[in-house]
Amino acid sequence: KKDIIILGIESSCDDTSAAILKNEAILSNEIAGQKVHEAYGGVVPELASRAHQQNILPVVDAAIKNAKIHISDIDAVAFTRGPGLLGSLIVGTSFAKSFALGLDIPIVEVNHMHGHVLAHFIDDIENNELKEKPSFPFLCLTVSGGHTQVVLVRDHLDMEVVGTTKDDAAGEAFDKTAKLLGLPYPGGPLIDKYAKEGDANAFKFTKPEMANFDFSFSGLKTNVLQFLQRETKKDKDFIEKRLPDICASLQKTIVDILFDKLIKAAKHYSINEIAIAGGVSANSGIRKRLLEEGEQRNWKTYIPKFEYCTDNAAMIAITGRFHYLNGKFADQSVTPQARMKI
Ligand code: KG4
Ligand code: ZN
Repeated sequence: KKDIIILGIESSCDDTSAAILKNEAILSNEIAGQKVHEAYGGVVPELASRAHQQNILPVVDAAIKNAKIHISDIDAVAFTRGPGLLGSLIVGTSFAKSFALGLDIPIVEVNHMHGHVLAHFIDDIENNELKEKPSFPFLCLTVSGGHTQVVLVRDHLDMEVVGTTKDDAAGEAFDKTAKLLGLPYPGGPLIDKYAKEGDANAFKFTKPEMANFDFSFSGLKTNVLQFLQRETKKDKDFIEKRLPDICASLQKTIVDILFDKLIKAAKHYSINEIAIAGGVSANSGIRKRLLEEGEQRNWKTYIPKFEYCTDNAAMIAITGRFHYLNGKFADQSVTPQARMKI
C-alpha cells in the first residue's frame, strides 16, 4: 500500500504552524510564534491574523523543505477549520484551499480540539521504541489557554466532551493570576518555574463547587486578587517575598481542581486509560500528579511530546489522516468556524 503524505496547517490562535506527516510519522513540524502580543498581556486578534498572513508561506515552505519531500508528494492538505479566532482561521483555511486547488489534491477539515486529543496517535520514539498509544475508550484532559475539557474518546473520530469550564480555561487561570502577581504574559510557565521552589501548602485558595465534570476558575482569580490586596496592605513587599510560596499554592489549587474532576470521570466511566493534552499539560505539577494518580489508581497514562502539546500542525495532520482514511474530504466552499463542537 502506498504511503500517505499529508500537509497539516494550524492557525487558530497565535501560532502559525505547518507539518508534514508520512503515514503516522512526523517528518517536519514548523511553528512560528507571535511576539507582538506580549506587550498587550494577551492575544490581539487583529494582530494575530496579520502575523499569520506574513508567516504562513515561509512556514509551509520550511515544513516541505525540512521534510525532504517534493511538493508533488503531498496527497492532501489538512487544516484547522475551528474553533479559534476567525481572522486567524481564515488565513490557514484560505491558504489550504488555494494550495490544494493549485496541486489538484483534496482538503480535509480538522477540529482543533480533535487535534489536541489525537496528538497521542503520532508515532513517537522513546528509548528506541515506538511509544504506546492509548487504547479506546480513554479519557483525555485537554488543557490550554483557550480550553479545558474532559473528553471521552471512543474512537479516533468518535469523542464526547463530558466536562468543560464554565468560565476561564486552565491556561487563563494560570495567566490571569500570574498577571495579578506582576508576571509577564503568558505567566503559566513562570508560575510553574517559581512553584518549584515554594511550599504548596503555604496558602489556601478557594475551589469551586461544580456539578458533574465541569470546571470553573473565575472564583479563584477573584480570591487571589482579594488575598493579594489584603496581604500587600499589611506588607507592600509581600508578593516579592513570598512569590515561590504563592505560585506553588496557586498551582496546587489549579491542579487539584483539574484532577478532582478527572478522577471523578475516570471512576464514573470505569476507564483507566488516561491522557492529557494541550499547552497547559506542559505544567510540571500536572505531569507529576498524573503519574502519581496513575501509580495509585492503576491508570495507564499518556502525555504527548511537548511540541505536540502546544498548538501545532502535526496534530492537525494526524487528525486529517484519520478523516482521509475514512474518505471524509471538505469542499472548496468550506469556511472557518470560530465556534465548533467536538
Ligand atoms: O495550547 P497552547 O499552547 O495554546 C492555546 O491553544 O491556548 O496553551 C497555552 C497556554 C497558556 O495559557 C500558557 O500559560 C500555558 O498554556 N502554559 C502553562 C505552562 N506552559 C504553557 N501553564 C502552566 N505551566 C506551564 N508549564
Ligand atoms: Zn490549542
